[in-house]
Amino acid sequence: MAGIKYFEPYPVFMKRAAGSHVWDVDGNEYVDYLMSYGALILGHGAKVVRDSIEEVIGSFGTTVLGTPTEVEIAYGTTLRDIYHPGGSVRFTNSGLEATTLAVRLARAHTGRRKIAKFEGHYHGAVDRLLFSYSPEVARAGNAKSPVPIADSADVDKGLLSDSIVLPFNEWDATENILTRNGKDLACVIMEPFEEGVIPGEREFMNNLRKLTRDLEIPLIFDEVKTGFRIRLGGATEFYSIVPDIACLGKIIGGGLPMGAVVGKADILAHLDPRGKQGTEVFHSGTFNGNPLSVNVGRATIDALSRPGAFDLLRRRTDRLKGGVSAALAERDVPHQMAGEGGMFNVYFTSRPVRNYRDIKNSDLRLRRFLDLELITNGVYLKPGNRFCLSLAHSDDDVRLTLEKIGHSMDDLAPSAAF
Ligand SMILES: Cc1ncc(COP(=O)(O)O)c(C=O)c1O
Repeated sequence: MAGIKYFEPYPVFMKRAAGSHVWDVDGNEYVDYLMSYGALILGHGAKVVRDSIEEVIGSFGTTVLGTPTEVEIAYGTTLRDIYHPGGSVRFTNSGLEATTLAVRLARAHTGRRKIAKFEGHYHGAVDRLLFSYSPEVARAGNAKSPVPIADSADVDKGLLSDSIVLPFNEWDATENILTRNGKDLACVIMEPFEEGVIPGEREFMNNLRKLTRDLEIPLIFDEVKTGFRIRLGGATEFYSIVPDIACLGKIIGGGLPMGAVVGKADILAHLDPRGKQGTEVFHSGTFNGNPLSVNVGRATIDALSRPGAFDLLRRRTDRLKGGVSAALAERDVPHQMAGEGGMFNVYFTSRPVRNYRDIKNSDLRLRRFLDLELITNGVYLKPGNRFCLSLAHSDDDVRLTLEKIGHSMDDLAPSAAF
């Protein structure tokens, strides 16, 4: 398991970016589909982002105050209205800080210890949530009753004994595990779209919402990837399901570090320092809700909310997604496309991809070869990762990318078995 910057045989060092393109230290140009793991929905160096940075420096005279500000309230209200009308919001500095806080809140609220998550779902680099994200299948138990496997050497046995793993999109098995562990569970945390692209099936999601409500287990949607990208209102909007807490990251800061927890007022009330003795969840951070991230985030969401903006992103993404699929079909490469809104991914298999085990059964080697070939041909994404588009991606980018995908597949053909 490698963090965001490394991949085999070695990562590419980038030097600069503009709009939808990046240039490496050797001067090679690429169409960028990493978009900093989806964080840049307006593209690199968008004008509204630059203007907003200048405006903050001009009007605040600083980047951070360490006090509440009016813009924090304004942006928090926007986020609340999109993700949890009537709820509350707390800003953090990253997605990881948001998921960590969400779990802490759920524990304080329920007085329970155990955490349930889905196999293959990522919630940030924190020991409490670093289990069964990327387990070796041979060690991970039965597909319908996976066992918790540490993803990092610091995750100790104590944490694992409080960790429950659920199989995504397998309702009977999930129901069984949740019903057995219900009274000990502080929360169920999930990526409503695995890897940001594989959807929880509607019936599965509806069942999960109902059962967690019946068992009084807070349901946490980790919308760090899906928020503002599959829909403006993320998976919450896509499913019309309101989780007890949603965690936001990436796009929320418009390219600056930021995260947020948005959710039920009575759960977030544990953050109120005026609360009853013994019920308060202590949360603090020097840069939380700093005016720079707040303003840039707000300007970004305003730009994305303009009439037609999200539809344009979706249309361009669909064109590329459809074109990739057509290029593969033309060459008789079995594949599955997945993804909504402004991102998608492709899996090389003839069978439906519904969860982690299905991904592991797809041809990951071919995918890696293709991605390395794409990089050589001027299309950048981290090998294996999803394609993220932005409002800076043009029809020409899409056309050029499809040409390059065709060439890359043809270059690969002699060495790959298709
Ligand atoms: C679903 C999900 N949750 C949490 C995180 C952690 O966010 P960050 O990298 O901002 O800490 C990520 C990061 O990719 C993510 O995809």
